[in-house]
Parts: sequence; structure tokens; C-alpha cells
Amino acid sequence: MHAVETVDLTKIYNGVCAVLNVSLAVDKGALLLIDGRSGSGKTTLLKLIGCLEKATSGTCYIFGKDVHAMTENELSDFRLNTMGFIFQDYNLLPTLTVYDNIELPLLLARERDRKKRVEELLEAFDMTRLKEKRPDELSGGEKQRVAILRALSNNPDIILADEPSSNLDIENSHRIFETLAEVNKEFGVSIIVVSHDPISRTHIKTAYTMSEGMLRKGG
Ligand SMILES: Nc1ncnc2c1ncn2[C@@H]1O[C@H](COP(=O)(O)OP(=O)(O)OP(=O)(O)O)[C@@H](O)[C@H]1O
Ligand SMILES: [Mg+2]
Repeated sequence: MHAVETVDLTKIYNGVCAVLNVSLAVDKGALLLIDGRSGSGKTTLLKLIGCLEKATSGTCYIFGKDVHAMTENELSDFRLNTMGFIFQDYNLLPTLTVYDNIELPLLLARERDRKKRVEELLEAFDMTRLKEKRPDELSGGEKQRVAILRALSNNPDIILADEPSSNLDIENSHRIFETLAEVNKEFGVSIIVVSHDPISRTHIKTAYTMSEGMLRKGG
């Protein structure tokens, strides 16, 4: 069984074909990169895989489950327990501390032992000293690392990252991709990264390219 399998996935927005007949199989524990020009459909594909958007046609299976066959409630539980998202603009809650931001998915999932989990993550990524800070007191690289820890807190099986280095300098970009590659290797999480940052290639060897809604293997 694949972590993700899409079959002829298509998304049309008011006549604009954002994603066209994409059939992609992602193995468990894979780390892959999706590159492509602006407007080629990368974010839309990630949203379809992450069940944040509904496809116009085609199917998407996550660990063998047809996501289109689920109700909204089932989907939100499934998302919470299976996936972690990392967005371009971090999406951290500004009024919450670093600790509280990372704890949030665990609270939503009504997990026990939240403190232990958050502290372990902070420790493992050398972020403990930042735990009481709020997002506006952090650098871009620190915010992005908090976003990665938040995506990891629920022990997701799949992480979807959209342009995770877009606001960062070269050194921090290397750190972000290094961190994602480490998370993939250490925890066996399947990771799909959308990025047109050339630095991503140093850390992620399997690449696909999107062009006018279509996906092909290779850089
Ligand atoms: N909610 C929406 N409503 C209408 N059209 C949309 C919507 N979202 C995306 N599109 C269109 O779908 C196409 C693909 O957009 P998408 O955001 O997936 O591109 P992208 O490859 O992520 O681009 P970028 O590199 O700039 O982030 C574009 O033509 C865009 O204008
Ligand atoms: Mg995009």
C-alpha cells in the first residue's frame, strides 16, 4: 500500500484547470520534491492530497483510504491524525507561545502526555530556549522550525510542505531542508515538499516537475 496514491486527479477552478490528470504514487517513508513554475498547480495538488480541497474528478487514496468517500467529520479527524502541514507563511497563531503553537494539534486530537511530547520535540531540535516566545519575537528560520515541530507533534504519517524556505536566507533554507530530510530518515514520515528553491535539490533527491497542471517525473 502507498502512503499517497492519486489517480487522474483533476481540479478545475471556474474554467481554470489547476491540476490535470495527475497520477502519483508515493511510497511509505518517501521524500519527494515537486518543482515547477508559478501557477503550474503545485499548491493545488498539495491541497488535494491534504484533503483541504475537493477534486473535480479523479481519486486520492491515503494509506489505501479513498478520501472522497469520507464525510467532512471523518476527513478532519483523518487529517488531524495522519497529516502535518507546513505552509509558506508559517500559519503560526500570533497570540500563542512557541510551546502552545506546537501543542495545539495535540489538544485538538485530545492527546494525553502533551507536555512530554512537546518538550521532547523542543529538545530534539534544540528549540527549548524559545518555548515561551511568541511568533513575532522569532526570526523567519525559527518560525519555520516551529511550524515543522507543530506539523510533527501529532506523529503524522505524512508531511506536506509548501515552499517551506520561501522567506528564508540561504543558511536557513539549508537548515529547513536538512531538518525535513532528517525527519524523513529518523521518523520514517513520508514527506512531499513543493519548492522551486534550488537548495532543496541538495537535500531531496527524488523530484517531479509540474507544468500547466500536469506532473512528470524528473527535475
Ligand atoms: N481558489 C482558487 N480559485 C481560482 N483559481 C485558483 C485558485 N487557486 C489556484 N487557482 C489557479 O490555479 C492555478 C494553479 O495555482 P497554484 O496555486 O496551484 O499554483 P502554484 O504552482 O502553487 O504557484 P506558485 O508557485 O505561485 O505558488 C493558477 O492559475 C491559479 O490562478
Ligand atoms: Mg503555490
